[in-house]
Amino acid sequence: MIAVIGGVPVAAFANDWGMGASNSKIPPSSIYNPVSTPAHEINTVAFFVVAITGVIFLIVAGLLTYSIVRFRARPTDDTREPPQVYGSSPIEFAWTTVPVIIVLVLILITARTIYTVQAPARPPGALSVHVIAHQWWWEFRYPDLGVVTANELHVPLSDPKNPTPTFLDLESADVAHSFWVQRLAGKTDVIPNKKNTMWIDPHVSGTYLGQCGEYCGTEHAMMLIRVVVEPRADFDRWVAAQKQPPALDPSVVHGRQVFESTACVNCHTIQGTAANGRFGPDLTHLMTRETIGAGVAMNTPDHLKVWVNDPSVMKPGALMPAMNLDDKDLDDLVAYLVTLH
Ligand code: CUA
Repeated sequence: MIAVIGGVPVAAFANDWGMGASNSKIPPSSIYNPVSTPAHEINTVAFFVVAITGVIFLIVAGLLTYSIVRFRARPTDDTREPPQVYGSSPIEFAWTTVPVIIVLVLILITARTIYTVQAPARPPGALSVHVIAHQWWWEFRYPDLGVVTANELHVPLSDPKNPTPTFLDLESADVAHSFWVQRLAGKTDVIPNKKNTMWIDPHVSGTYLGQCGEYCGTEHAMMLIRVVVEPRADFDRWVAAQKQPPALDPSVVHGRQVFESTACVNCHTIQGTAANGRFGPDLTHLMTRETIGAGVAMNTPDHLKVWVNDPSVMKPGALMPAMNLDDKDLDDLVAYLVTLH
């Protein structure tokens, strides 16, 4: 059976709303394939710790296995105890000092990594982004550039010789979340009433997938992140486009009236209209984003129609209500939304 939602036959879509095909073109998120200094440092320290503890495991397990086999009980054994060793200073000294040295090395290298990841100096070319986690989407505000977007973070490529890292200040609007883009950095908790910070300096362009890393309610699994890393010139072009208010296409005036006369304006912002809500994503440049619903569906007019008609079809539990518009208003509203470049 084909369900028709908002006038769109839903069985016509793959049930992942086009996301699988899109994401399959992006290299998989992996902590083992870092492209940014914090992720690289964490990967290195993890391998170092596994290598040292692996060698210790092999030595201990090897000696244990040897002893179990070599000194196992045999029928010919007599019942006397084997020779007992007490108070040997050299042995006790050895098995105290060696572990202390190993632990000390692990502490020092871990402390160095923590320092690199958490307390770097901000070079003059650094970009600041304010990240606000919401149930269940991400708000990105660029205070120095006057740009606001959602779910898809654009940052400039950072040349290791002339680094232009991006520093993120993270806050939550509701519950505890965690910002995690595996190839760029470790997880950073996003906590209400507390500002946490992190930084990234991606040195390979491309799109990186991430996700909320802390259970935050029904749609935690659908609180996805895309980070678009692009060369400086492309990034500057993106910023310039985001700062332009979208041009009003006269053919969609009715759709804009529908938008302005419904509850949309209480939660969303569109520059140049009366809408200045902050509860949901800023829609000023909606169509410059590849996905909607924090990565739940590809951003196409049909998907927008299904979403606006009833977001819970795509994202059960989403806090946006079903708009219950009649077919004409829904068509006109979506026609207006798709002009928001
Ligand atoms: Cu936000 Cu899990």
